[in-house]
Amino acid sequence: MIHKLLFKGYFQLMKPRRSILSVPGNNKKMHKKASSCKADVIMLDLEDSVPPGAKEKARSIVIDSLLSLDWGDRIVTVRINGLDTSFAYRDLLSVSESAGHMLDSVVIPKVDHSADINFADRMLNGIELHKKFSNKIGIEAIIESAEGLENISDIAKASNRLKTLVFGVADYSASVGAKLVSISGHGEKEEDLYPGHRWNFAISRLVMAAKANGLIAIDSPYGNFIDTEGLKRSAVTACALGCDGKWAIHPNQLDVINQVFTPSKEDINRAGKILKAYREAEKQGLGAASVNGHMIDKATFRLAKQVWKQAEYLGLIKKL
Ligand code: COA
Ligand code: MG
Repeated sequence: MIHKLLFKGYFQLMKPRRSILSVPGNNKKMHKKASSCKADVIMLDLEDSVPPGAKEKARSIVIDSLLSLDWGDRIVTVRINGLDTSFAYRDLLSVSESAGHMLDSVVIPKVDHSADINFADRMLNGIELHKKFSNKIGIEAIIESAEGLENISDIAKASNRLKTLVFGVADYSASVGAKLVSISGHGEKEEDLYPGHRWNFAISRLVMAAKANGLIAIDSPYGNFIDTEGLKRSAVTACALGCDGKWAIHPNQLDVINQVFTPSKEDINRAGKILKAYREAEKQGLGAASVNGHMIDKATFRLAKQVWKQAEYLGLIKKL
């Protein structure tokens, strides 16, 4: 599933995580629906979409779904409750012990310190030893507080189980006291509020920490699931800033998200030309060359290779 680390500290090329559908943990009907939807990743949620009175029940429904449903080639993750709650340690223990062999990763919300990741990592070590799982359960960290963003460099290095850093716009805006105009997250027309993209710094900071450590960067969901234009604006911006995928809260959002995070024909053709031209240049002892009037060098080559590998994985081109 995990292909390879293309270049150290650059980009860990994994199975694509373009779209991640969040599904309330206590809703079995939605689990069934999700198991045949177009998302690359299904995240069964035990946190904010489950009310406190339903937490225990949701845990057992999630375990049952992990064990009984056919998820096809979708990646399946579970979001546990925040580590500052009374639910989290039991979420981690029960879900991983009972169904860890079906689990790609555990998603940890409100990660503020590297110690949060260390705690989950150590717990998972013990559980895997005890259960003799052949797979290694990954960790995804949601960064959604000022403290989390401040400590992001340490968090991103805290465990080799880490796969993704996820930006949580709603909790982050609450944490820094930013005015929340609606629950939709970025993508809405907010010109009257701020002249630009309000979350540019936070997302870019997260992308920087992710890519410096070979991790995938994922954007927040867009809450208004009937506003396709706003969703697209939000996804295009996140993609332009370096995110590799975006959460969804409704199956209707998956087509737009998948399309935005899939390399286009033009992207793939351009990447092919760059790879060819750079290899030719290298043979001649050169480090830079030109393609259609644009300079290309090793950095351009790396970007092109990333596009090419993703396209290969998605079956858009044949493997070389
Ligand atoms: N996962 C799987 N299936 C979903 C879904 C989801 N996140 N959201 C909706 N569906 C299903 C519905 O069950 C319905 O299925 P059906 O046609 O078989 O009856 C279909 O998609 C259409 O749903 P719709 O009627 O448009 O929406 P709804 O009123 O049932 O649900 C929400 C709307 C917002 C409550 C629902 O989308 C949801 O719970 N989203 C996830 C919320 C979440 O995870 N929040 C935490 C992360 S930020
Ligand atoms: Mg949150």
